[in-house]
Amino acid sequence: MVRYLEQVEMDTVLSLSKRRGFMFQSSDIYGGLNATWDYGPLGVELKRNVKETWWGSVVRERDDMVGLDAAILMHPRVWEVSGHVQNFADPLVECKVCHQRFRADDLEDASGCPACGGELTDPRTFNLMFKTFMGAVEDSASQVYMRPETAQGIFVNLANVLVASRRKLPFGIAQIGKAFRNEITPGNSTFRTREFEQMEIEYFVKPGTDEAHLDSWVEERFSWYVKHGIRKENLRLRRHGDDELAHYARDCYDIEYRFPWGWAELEGVANRTDYDLRSHGEASGHDLRYFDEEAKEHYYPYVIEPSGGVDRAALAFLLDAYEEEPDPSSAKGETRVVLRFHRKMAPIKASVLPLSRNEKLAPTARAIHELVRPHLATQYDDAQSIGRRYRRQDEIGTPFCVTVDFQTLEDRAVTVRDRDTMSQLRVPVADLVSILKDKLEHGW
Ligand code: GAP
Repeated sequence: MVRYLEQVEMDTVLSLSKRRGFMFQSSDIYGGLNATWDYGPLGVELKRNVKETWWGSVVRERDDMVGLDAAILMHPRVWEVSGHVQNFADPLVECKVCHQRFRADDLEDASGCPACGGELTDPRTFNLMFKTFMGAVEDSASQVYMRPETAQGIFVNLANVLVASRRKLPFGIAQIGKAFRNEITPGNSTFRTREFEQMEIEYFVKPGTDEAHLDSWVEERFSWYVKHGIRKENLRLRRHGDDELAHYARDCYDIEYRFPWGWAELEGVANRTDYDLRSHGEASGHDLRYFDEEAKEHYYPYVIEPSGGVDRAALAFLLDAYEEEPDPSSAKGETRVVLRFHRKMAPIKASVLPLSRNEKLAPTARAIHELVRPHLATQYDDAQSIGRRYRRQDEIGTPFCVTVDFQTLEDRAVTVRDRDTMSQLRVPVADLVSILKDKLEHGW
């Protein structure tokens, strides 16, 4: 029987993730730092693939988008004017007995501590922004914030980007970068952490066209996850109720993923109206209105914001890829674990495996690896039996294994094995790179 995500324990995937080098607890040798994670050799490739695939889809393949990379530290006024100093807060309650802290709005039953039943304090507002100091003097004048969203870097640069890129509405600015939130209840691995990466789009539109653009971005972003490997049945859309909209939003849809602990937000697509541009325009004294040459009028554009988490997306791609099935090549009834990553997300695209460590095979196998590696993320593996090496590659989701055997020395051809069908194809070494590239683009 094949086991999919819904039956898979989070611990099973986390243990594979640690063993094979996707994610490690940060500062592990000192006992770890709560809710902070480091990406290992495979995890960093997965995360880069998430970001590059997103950047390709939303910037390079579109005429109406450009990119930006703004600084993490911004003028403190940004966060006052954006409303984050005032509103970016969660209600915090603490148990008077065990002293655990909870978000009051997360508790199903707020009459007692969910851990020990003890009495809870009254909720107090807790601002989630991290503070630090700029320069040598640690006083209130030198206090700055670590950005809690990348979006503000886009809003305050809109005028610069418009002049530099000579764009007309509708158009958007995309950015990937770190954000920091002093979350009250981080957890579930990289799902909710205090330091994370966002991939955000601020899409500027004429007021009145905002609802149609919101719908089209919701559709676009939902399909992006499906196109890159997430099972459709594990995704759903949820519209925010009025009571849960962020202080800047008029409307918002969450794209939710069915994590092992339940449905939870992967990405939000919000209608931020002209809230941010109007606030910054009025507070800074700079005219941030757009001049519409056709309508011959100035106005503040409305903003549609698809905002996703890189770490959450990487976690969802990892969880959704996980499958266990009976190993067809095992007489002992062993289990085959496969990460069925979409080819674009797979950390390693092809591995080169000499049939054995025989010294006659090694130079040819090494030369073939050298041929492939400038083009694709590869691995060379010659340890243990070929069957075990196939399993190791399946377990990290490598789409293709290239086997070099004694026949290769005669006919200059290799066998390419497909991870998903386990079928094999004999191909000339001279065509190997172009065949692998083609199969990575279009499938087996
Ligand atoms: N600029 C809008 C904004 O920041 P958000 O819904 O608060 O909206 C957007 O965050 C995305 O960032 C979320 O959908 C999630 O993927 C990611 N994210 C937010 N908080 C996070 C956290 N503590 N840990 C990991 N990812 C987080």
